[in-house]
Amino acid sequence: MIKHSTEQKQIVDWFNNTYTKRGEWYLRPKHAYYIYLEVLNAKANQKLLDIACGLGRLLEASLEYNVVPSGIDISDVAIAKVKAKFPQLDVSVANAEELPFEDNSFDLLTCIGSLERMIDKDKVLNEFLRVGKKECRYCFLVRNSQSTNWMFFKKFLGLKNKAGHQDAMDYNSWSQLFTKAGFNISNVYPDQYPLMKRLKRRSFWLKTIDYKSVVTSKTPIEKANEFLFILEKK
Ligand SMILES: C[S@@+](CC[C@H](N)C(=O)[O-])C[C@H]1O[C@@H](n2cnc3c(N)ncnc32)[C@H](O)[C@@H]1O
Repeated sequence: MIKHSTEQKQIVDWFNNTYTKRGEWYLRPKHAYYIYLEVLNAKANQKLLDIACGLGRLLEASLEYNVVPSGIDISDVAIAKVKAKFPQLDVSVANAEELPFEDNSFDLLTCIGSLERMIDKDKVLNEFLRVGKKECRYCFLVRNSQSTNWMFFKKFLGLKNKAGHQDAMDYNSWSQLFTKAGFNISNVYPDQYPLMKRLKRRSFWLKTIDYKSVVTSKTPIEKANEFLFILEKK
């Protein structure tokens, strides 16, 4: 049983409640998760850790890449649901601030839509560096505080979800946070799923969308809805 601070407990309660009430409706579909494995160039037998794995969407997608996946999440409801649906997956309840893994354990590490929810980001990033092997590649999806979505809906209309610790930072602040923590930035893409959906709407005669290739955008990266950072250890 993990001991939580009051703020952390509020986050756990909010996610437990959301996963209980809304389940998978709260999340993007599985095909939105292939791109993270593609940009990491995931290969068979590599050890992958998905931090804050939620209901296991990325882990489910990763099974098609023959990697060796593990996941953790602070929500016990999320982990119980993953275990019930995918008994073969190695998942556990844990706080990203104290990962239950040895040093230098993983080749690939993902953290999708979750770092902005974490309280002590420096501690969390130190843990990510500790459990990654020397050549580990990291993929983070993080929210942009300068996006129209964030500025209008979350700030102007006040729809920011405080209990779930929803937050955002601009491009330079995320870049500085990562480099200061000890990462090199290999690449940054705009969040891919909204671009894929737009492509699908525009080309309505297209029967299939290639969810495994990067979609480019003319919008400056600083204005992207979210940022997809690909990092390595310094
Ligand atoms: C927006 S959800 C994203 C879940 C998943 N990555 C996905 O894409 O479906 C954020 C997740 O972060 C988890 N979380 C928040 N703080 C955490 C922490 N300190 N350690 C581990 N997980 C955490 C929540 O329980 C929740 O499942």
